Amino acid sequence: MKIISAHSTIEAVDIVSSLILEKLIERPSSIIGLATGKTMVPVYSKLATKVSETKPNLDQAFFFMLDEYLGLPLNHSSSFRSYIKKHFILPLGLRESQVSFPPVDEGDAAGIYEQDIKRKGGIDLQLLGIGQNGHVGFNEPGSAADSKTRIIQLSPETLEANKDQFKEIVPSHALSMGIGTIKESRQLIMLATGKSKADVIKYLINHHDDPSCPATYLKSHPHFTLVLDPDAASKINLNI
Ligand code: GLP
Repeated sequence: MKIISAHSTIEAVDIVSSLILEKLIERPSSIIGLATGKTMVPVYSKLATKVSETKPNLDQAFFFMLDEYLGLPLNHSSSFRSYIKKHFILPLGLRESQVSFPPVDEGDAAGIYEQDIKRKGGIDLQLLGIGQNGHVGFNEPGSAADSKTRIIQLSPETLEANKDQFKEIVPSHALSMGIGTIKESRQLIMLATGKSKADVIKYLINHHDDPSCPATYLKSHPHFTLVLDPDAASKINLNI
């Protein structure tokens, strides 16, 4: 695991958006996995600014969503589909057909999604946030290291952390790429910002393959970069 400890949140966001842009320029037909959450909002905004300045050709790029809530009507404002349209597709000037959303309304949604990712040749770069309880995507504590895309019951901690996303409907389940699915990506970039992530980052640094903190399973990935802002890094000692 490579750790990049940024001097500010702005710098951390800038680093991650640059890594995504570099990948898209290096390989215009890149397949990128997208995460949601508050952490990614400034990353996508910065990426949109860089794209408008450098004007790379994004026509061949393709994107897979990491996860999605179940039980929300299509295009509900709390869905990750709506989030990604607002924060990513529109600002970057992409076609909606360039993003694959988990087919949550279909019977074997999980199996279909796994097959879709394989058919596209796998994910080149998967962007990740981290939950305060160590979840990645919606792989809650207790998830297996080789888990595949599946429906997962959301933990009370996750519902509490995400409560400002919900309006009249509070989802109880989500469909998420599994830890095994995520680890099949050729490169992983995780961004953690803010004091609320300091404890889980400390735990992540000090533990390996720990089912109570699924993010620890990612540390054995050969190309895993963890980018931290000063608050998220405030409980770890990067000099030892
Ligand atoms: C959500 C998403 C994750 C995200 C995490 C952190 O539940 N499923 O993909 O990384 O929580 O979110 P935030 O960036 O809002 O802290």
